[in-house]
Amino acid sequence: MTETARPNSDAPAGAFDIAAKMVDGLPQPAGAWTPIPRFSFVGGNNDSPSVPVGGLTEAAMAALTKHGAELATYNLGGNPQGFAGLREFVAESLAANAHMPTSSEQVLVVSGSLQALDLVNTAFLRPGDVVIAEEATYGGMISKVARRGARCIGVELDDDGIVPEHLERLLDELAGAGTPPRFIYTIPTVQNPTGSVMPIGRRREILAIARHFGVPIFEDECYSDLQWTGERPPTLRALDCADSEGQSVVIYCGSFSKSIAPALRVGYIVADVPVVRQLMALKDDAGTGALEQLVLAEYAAAHFDDHVSQLRETLREKCAAMRHAVNTHMGALSRVAIKLGGPVQVSDPKGGIFVWLTFPPGTDTARYLAPAAERGIQFNEGAAWSVDPEWGARRMRLCFGSLSHQDISDGVAALAEVIAAN
Ligand SMILES: Cc1ncc(COP(=O)(O)O)c(C=O)c1O
Repeated sequence: MTETARPNSDAPAGAFDIAAKMVDGLPQPAGAWTPIPRFSFVGGNNDSPSVPVGGLTEAAMAALTKHGAELATYNLGGNPQGFAGLREFVAESLAANAHMPTSSEQVLVVSGSLQALDLVNTAFLRPGDVVIAEEATYGGMISKVARRGARCIGVELDDDGIVPEHLERLLDELAGAGTPPRFIYTIPTVQNPTGSVMPIGRRREILAIARHFGVPIFEDECYSDLQWTGERPPTLRALDCADSEGQSVVIYCGSFSKSIAPALRVGYIVADVPVVRQLMALKDDAGTGALEQLVLAEYAAAHFDDHVSQLRETLREKCAAMRHAVNTHMGALSRVAIKLGGPVQVSDPKGGIFVWLTFPPGTDTARYLAPAAERGIQFNEGAAWSVDPEWGARRMRLCFGSLSHQDISDGVAALAEVIAAN
């Protein structure tokens, strides 16, 4: 029997080819690791001087003293749902800050909210299924949905998030075609990439529409602690639970990646208990890292609110520096504007770690990826952050969380030179 060589196989002809034994449809193998370049505007990384190293060190000492011996058993000998102390902190913090009364039974700790996306996708999606997502959304979700053979359909956004009339029209059309979406994926608070925050009235409208069509909502709130005002609107889940009897249509997820540190890999799902139990049955990794959970629970109980309010200020200043740099180097009368026939518009995010740029019609930001990389600059091309890559082609996402003010300014100037020269 002959076997077709996989395109990424590097086995010499006639030699055993292990890649040929793997299943079809795998992504391209990862490239060799290269250090993060100076002007890396990708990746959702955070401000490194803001990592609370001292507080985490003290918390680690205290947590290990109290619970170190429990590391001998999976899940510290407790519930695979996650360390009880951390679930209690999450529940209390959401009740106090997101108007969402929550019990620790409704919290499932996961290995970053990326695992939350995987668990929800596993529970809901089959090949051929449809998900409604915001027209500009987290690229990681678009690719995860595609990898399951399902597809996203984009719902329009305005300055307040999902446009209700368009959502209603889409749901109507999909119901008519016999392909109702499995769920609506939304990032209502500090939307990725636009940075908008959905007002309460709009939240109620979206919920009413989802309930009318009987479609679940998957609410991803990983940036909600980073809203400049520090005031979070009630989550969709909070409003839904307050207004309706029975099970909620909303599954919620959050993360410590943006508020404390992404390398910790700790996030959480909040849902009705039967949903939590179902997702727990799918979480077959023998538990999220216990040390991270112990340290976070110890640290967060005493310091979380103070820490995020300082971090917010740091990021807000970086955001101002980023917007200033874009307006200076890509705004009206800049070389970029002259070259492209108009200025680049920069979003005014209400929190978070990124801005969303809109270029004049006809621009494809992907064409600048290679020449920018040669100068040590990375950015997210809009197509990868958009459900419709053609719609997204003239857009670009720039993260500013991990760069210094100097690097933001120099990096945007260098990127503008690349754009003007290509
Ligand atoms: C909207 C959104 N959801 C989920 C994630 C994944 O975050 P993590 O797995 O680090 O919690 C990200 C990361 O940038 C994101 O932007």
